[in-house]
Amino acid sequence: MKTVVLKVNPRSPEKSRILRAANIIKSGGLVAFPTETVYGLGANALNPKAVRKIFSVKGRPSDNPLIAHIAGRKDVHKLASIVPASAVKLMNKFWPGPLTLVLKKKPLVPKEVTAGLDTVAVRMPANKIARALIKASGVPIVAPSGNLSGMPSPTTARHVIQDLNGKIPCIIDGGSARIGVESTVIDVTTTTPTVLRPGGITVEMLRKALGKSVSRFKGSVKHAKSPGMKYRHYAPRAKLVLVEGNSRKIRQSIAKLANDYARKRKKVGIMTTDNSHSYNANVVTYVGCSAEAVARNLFNALRDFDAAKVDVILAEGLEESGLGLAVMNRLRKAASKIVKV
Ligand code: TXA
Ligand code: MG
Repeated sequence: MKTVVLKVNPRSPEKSRILRAANIIKSGGLVAFPTETVYGLGANALNPKAVRKIFSVKGRPSDNPLIAHIAGRKDVHKLASIVPASAVKLMNKFWPGPLTLVLKKKPLVPKEVTAGLDTVAVRMPANKIARALIKASGVPIVAPSGNLSGMPSPTTARHVIQDLNGKIPCIIDGGSARIGVESTVIDVTTTTPTVLRPGGITVEMLRKALGKSVSRFKGSVKHAKSPGMKYRHYAPRAKLVLVEGNSRKIRQSIAKLANDYARKRKKVGIMTTDNSHSYNANVVTYVGCSAEAVARNLFNALRDFDAAKVDVILAEGLEESGLGLAVMNRLRKAASKIVKV
């Protein structure tokens, strides 16, 4: 299949190009498109055959449900049977934006979308191209991240091309994703809302908006409440060693590990948040010193290490506050080994 790449202006999306992509969605095809978090691989949420294509193109396990993306807040009622007060609060505060709500579903949502669960995940993205595409398609669009299953999520159209060129009819190129990690997924069907996946909206922001505590799901892999949590994710081909703990000790430990691996003739890459580092390795990538910057650069850095063919990636752990929680969640899932210092 020939994949067409449509360049679209993220500030004022060209109507004719959006319509071209929307026609593909309407006729049951797949379109990769930018959101503020990562690029998504979209299909008509109400067309089971189109939804099934997403799973086969990505190689995604069919028991991992998808997020339905909508263009306006009121569209949530088309998909969800109950929208509790806590959900309304969160929608008013954080939509459009990187927050996904898990709600009781309406019968019209196909089982392919929800993997047979009685809930549906819904989000209204902040990206103008994404919303224009949903509006022009006239249907909610389900979209997982537009990577091959298990690979780091795409934050540019180039990443989507790397994974899906020749497999889908259309990719919209709308520049780099602003946030760089996926949306926060929160289950609001329970009395105490539960964060199933940390992401673009921080737990601190959710607590403040709700004026009450939220719990964080840390269940075992076997009993994953959000099925996506049980799979290894975001994994580059290289072995990733995550070093976490006290920041000074982290750097000493990484410097030592770099020497050890070099002695074993391994090609070493280091991901650092220290601008003035003195690491000695084949590739040293500075990903910024704030959690926001690391989130934005993380997936691109992982793909670049693979392109540089390093054998081992040594990654500095971050403090688990704010966006640092989402970054650490992704790094732990990508890691083959975690070293605590
Ligand atoms: O930022 C994002 O959310 C991106 C962009 C494209 O919007 N999408 C994304 O989709 O990350 P995906 O498929 O890679 O991740 C969806 C997550 C998975 O962890 C899945 O298990 C969870 O949402 N999920 C979906 N429906 C659910 C449901 N009904 N109950 C619990 N978890 C659900
Ligand atoms: Mg994903």
